[in-house]
This record gives sequence, structure tokens and C-alpha cells, in this order.
Amino acid sequence: MDSLIVNSRRPLVGETVVQGSKNSSLPILAATVLVGGVCQIHNCPHLTDTDAAISILRHLGCKVKKGINTVTVDSSAVSCFNIPDSLMREMRSSIVFLGSVLGRMGKAELSAPGGCEIGLRPIDLHLNALKIMGFRIEEDYGYIRCEKVKENCSSVISLSFPSVGATENIILAAALSKGRTIIHNAAREPEIYDLVAFLNECGCKISFRMQGTVVIEGVRKLHGCRYTVMSDRIVALTYMTGAAITGGDVTLHGINTNHFRTVIPVFESAGCYVEDRKSQLRIRADRGLRAVRDIRTLPYPGFPTDAQAPVMAMLTVAQGTSVIIENIFESRFKHVSELVRMGAKIKIEGKVALIDGVKELYGTSVTASDLRGGAALVVAGLFAKGSTVIGNVAHIDRGYEKIEDSFKCLGADIKRIKQ
Ligand code: UD1
Repeated sequence: MDSLIVNSRRPLVGETVVQGSKNSSLPILAATVLVGGVCQIHNCPHLTDTDAAISILRHLGCKVKKGINTVTVDSSAVSCFNIPDSLMREMRSSIVFLGSVLGRMGKAELSAPGGCEIGLRPIDLHLNALKIMGFRIEEDYGYIRCEKVKENCSSVISLSFPSVGATENIILAAALSKGRTIIHNAAREPEIYDLVAFLNECGCKISFRMQGTVVIEGVRKLHGCRYTVMSDRIVALTYMTGAAITGGDVTLHGINTNHFRTVIPVFESAGCYVEDRKSQLRIRADRGLRAVRDIRTLPYPGFPTDAQAPVMAMLTVAQGTSVIIENIFESRFKHVSELVRMGAKIKIEGKVALIDGVKELYGTSVTASDLRGGAALVVAGLFAKGSTVIGNVAHIDRGYEKIEDSFKCLGADIKRIKQ
């Protein structure tokens, strides 16, 4: 597996265009299965997870052409409703194909995703919702078989938690149904809005009512379209933490700054200056960050769990004690032991992380244990004295398009060692 070597202590300075969103493009690629025509998806990030989604699409019978940041999917000939375990395991978000295959074929067979590096990640909310929608579900030894047995003219689903994955699966499974499906307490992440915008471009009738309610009026047929995926707000946040920790000055282009409303105050409390310029965000920081006392990860519009690790890396050198409470995933502190190896002072008590700011971090050998935890190590490496060697870069490649090139453009000294 490749490693990254970060040799920095230079402020990150410059301007950069943020890549397309992974968490939008993967459900949108899955959604093309419903269309039965040709969709051209622009601004698709070039990631290993994108390749995994393409492999599943091809297995299902789609013709897929991959350009630099455009993926063209012709789903006219989809004929398959099962996805082998080997393909499902290539990426966690493969569970979103459950909804799209059900929507298109009326049945699906695939392996359950199971736990991963950041937590148990059950799918009970997805399956309970599908039962309400008239699907029969059989589960045995990690395998799920799902089939439509009842055509409901109306299904009302109230999620006990606004799960992103469950909301996506319900929308996909309902888009071509005969009736109306209503989801209460649905996820409100911008990526859900992006998926719905894509589906509506293809002829779906999906609307958002009061906060957290989604209404899906089933339609008979869809048509292809061209769609541009939104930019990746978590990648943008990672650049922001890099600028903050190095005392840099970075302008991010191509983003929707409305998505950053609840995270900007965190950077401001840490002593950074953030300028909101609609589709651009400029962040400037002097050396000498301040601790932030109370960060709680929550469903959108709360502070995103995906930003927890990079923000923690930034706060390892903020003066005072910062507190982060991880409310979404139970094992999302795996990066802590690696940050501690670099000299950070962090204590974990259940879902609470107490970060005592230190003056220095020191480069050493560390290992990425998951996607965002790996990005956090890059951020810490930008500040550390000496060389930081980060192993298991494959985790980072799942979500960041050539992370070394992006940071190099902003002045970082970072390179990849191929193995
Ligand atoms: C979650 C994040 C999303 C992030 C993604 C990748 C939230 C609300 N969701 O989406 O922002 O981009 O991870 O890191 O922040 N749960 C159940 N049963 C279910 C489904 C979920 O108990 O059927 C629990 C999960 O264990 C977890 C929480 O609900 O504790 C959030 O799950 P969900 O939003 O579904 O996860 P993802 O879709 O992976």
C-alpha cells in the first residue's frame, strides 16, 4: 500500500477548486440504475470508491464510460438483481444499491455491509422502512433478499433517527413505485438534496415539505440527463483545517457556503478569519489557535461527524482544552492513538475527546485507520516538526482525489511513495 510523506511547517497559501462530493456522487451513480437510459454525471471525483460503484453498475448490466471527472452510465439493459459479496465489500456505501436495484427490478439480493472501522453501522432502519413499503425481507448469514410483495398506494415512514443511508435507500426504492411515500424525520444533508435534484432532473417527483419531511410521488418512467455533482464539503473542511493549523490563507472555490454555516463558528472560535463569498470561502489564520470548548457531531445542519477527525487534528495545537463529543459513530476515535504518537495530548472518555493543546507535534510513522482519520494525520503532518510518514493511504484515496497534489498546490511539502 502507498504511503504519504509530509514534511511541512509551511503555511498553506493559495486558491483551489474543491473536488466533487463523494457522498453525493456515489448515491447518484447508484440512482442511475433506476433511469433505464443514459446519464452523464459531471464533477464525479476520481476515487477508489467511484471505481467500486462503477464495478457494481457494470455487474448489474449498465454500460459505463469513465472520463476524467465524468461518468456516463447507460442503464437501459439492467437485468441483474444480485450483487456479489466481493463487490459489496469494496465500499461501505454499496448499501445504497439496495434501494436502486429494488426500485428498478422489484427485488434485490446482496450481502449486508456489516461493521467497519468507525462503528457497527446497522441497517435496521433501511429494512424496517422497506417492509412498510411492501417489501418482504429475508436475512440469513449476512445475506439479504428483498422482494416487493405488496403494492401500497401510500407508505408513511417515520425514521427514529435521520439516517442518511436509510433516507437515500427509501427515496430510491420509492421513486418508481405506484404510490406516494412520505418520510418523516428524513436526513437533511446537502447530499440528500443533490440526489433528489438529480432524480427530479430524470423525471422523478420528489419534494421536501417542512423540515425533515420528504414526499416521493412514484412515477412510471424516467429519462436520462446530464447532472453536475455538488462539491465536497468535507474535503473543503479538510483544507480549512490545513490552513488553520499552518497559519495559512486559503480560498476555496466552487462551494456552496450555506453548507458551512455551523462549522464556520468553530473556526472563528479557534481564532481564524473566515470570509463567506457565496461560492468561495477564504480562511486565514495566524499561528496560535485557541481551544474550542464544545463541538458535538450531529445530523445536518449540526457539526458533521466526517469533519471530526481533521478538526481534532487542528485542535491538537490550539491553546487550552478543546472538547469534542462524537454522537454519530461509536468507534470514530481511531486516529487519536496516531495523533498521540505525534505528540498530541488527547484523552477519550466514552464519546468525549478532551484535547489539551500542545506547542509542537513531531513527525513519525503513523497509519491511517479510516478515511477521515487518515486525512487528520495529513493535517497534523502539515504542522509537525520533521517527516510524518502515513501508511495505509488507500483509506484516504477512498475520499480524496490525489490528496498530495491538492495540498502541494497550496504549498505543502508532501509526496506519495508507491508500493
Ligand atoms: C453517516 C453520516 C454521514 C456521513 C457518512 C460517512 C450522519 C447522520 N450520517 O451516514 O453524514 O457522510 O456516515 O461517514 O452524520 N443507524 C442505525 N440503523 C440504521 C442506520 C443507521 O442504527 O439502519 C445509526 C448508525 O449506526 C449511526 C447513525 O445511525 O450511528 C448514522 O447513520 P447513517 O446516517 O445511516 O450513516 P451513513 O448513511 O453511513
